[in-house]
Amino acid sequence: EKGGHEYFMLKEIDEQPTALADTLRGHFSDGRIVLDEQRLSDQDLRDVDKVFVVACGSAYHSGLVAKYAIEHWTRLPVEVELASEFRYRDPVLDRDTLVVAVSQSGETADTLEAVRHAREQKARVLAVCNTNGAQIPRESDAVLYTHAGPEIGVASTKAFLAQIAANYLVGLALAQARGTKYPDEVAREFHELAAMPEAVRQVLGTTEQVKALGRELSEAKAVLFLGRHVGYPVALEGALKLKELAYMHAEGFAAGELKHGPIALIEPGLPVVVVMPSPKGRAVLHSKLVSNISEIQARGARTIVIAEEGDETVRPFADELIEIPAVPTLLQPLVSTVPLQVLAAEIARSRGYDVDKPRNLAKSVTVE
Ligand code: F6R
Repeated sequence: EKGGHEYFMLKEIDEQPTALADTLRGHFSDGRIVLDEQRLSDQDLRDVDKVFVVACGSAYHSGLVAKYAIEHWTRLPVEVELASEFRYRDPVLDRDTLVVAVSQSGETADTLEAVRHAREQKARVLAVCNTNGAQIPRESDAVLYTHAGPEIGVASTKAFLAQIAANYLVGLALAQARGTKYPDEVAREFHELAAMPEAVRQVLGTTEQVKALGRELSEAKAVLFLGRHVGYPVALEGALKLKELAYMHAEGFAAGELKHGPIALIEPGLPVVVVMPSPKGRAVLHSKLVSNISEIQARGARTIVIAEEGDETVRPFADELIEIPAVPTLLQPLVSTVPLQVLAAEIARSRGYDVDKPRNLAKSVTVE
């Protein structure tokens, strides 16, 4: 059942192109985005004046990624919040608030309680869920299923990529209903998304270098991850994977925050993974990150740079260069996350850990 893989997680990493394609299938027809089990009308979507994404762990990171796209496409304010924090403050919610609850299992207690709280305040709740008929979709106004298939490995991989794709569909549906994107623009965004399974397949074909690096890093004391823009949540996700699988101290930072404190952590030999934006997309972001890498390299860090193929400017600053295919900026997390998953799994395996069942963790967290 592991299909020749040593662990379910490794199989699930390989299934990501299919998970993405299955999640997108059927959601674009007659030139329009369609969401299934849509109990929210176009008018409901037009009335939305604020979006909250509530989730935990990796699902929360998928929301952080989506914020960039949804705000850009819809011009609606989007707040992304840990479900466990959301309901213990007093979030400002009303019937024009759309709360997107993202959960692979659909049973996460913190997220479920956030959904209940939102509904009590009359907000509309859309669940993004990977499990048919789970509690969170049952208690939501509408549901958009990710079709990643069952995820057995405790660490989320294919469900995470599918969550990003589904969150993007929500963003495009809102943009379409609000008219903040012309139909041909919505169609173009969807087709770019639909090209991502192939890009992920390409990344999966080049993981040997990352695995070798993972074996080399198995004795590292700590690893830092840096990114900007959508690369920032990718850095957080890379650090989370490493913590939970390899029990290694790992931290993700917004690269711009380095100089506000974390740069004090840099010491000779410390591995720092940097997620580079495309040099063609946002030139300013790219050059800012190049200067961040040069600063940490000057302080002796071992720089591991994930960059678009053909990005020559970054080469002199990369002790290790991991290339990913060129894709639109907002979609880059779907490819840049993959080497980080492989890296964490390989470090954990080299340390002799069971990557499917990390210590102290459960696949679905049904207590608060
Ligand atoms: C990390 C991981 C967890 C889950 C989190 C939410 O690899 O798997 O952080 O993402 O527990 O779970 P769901 O999505 O089931 O609500």
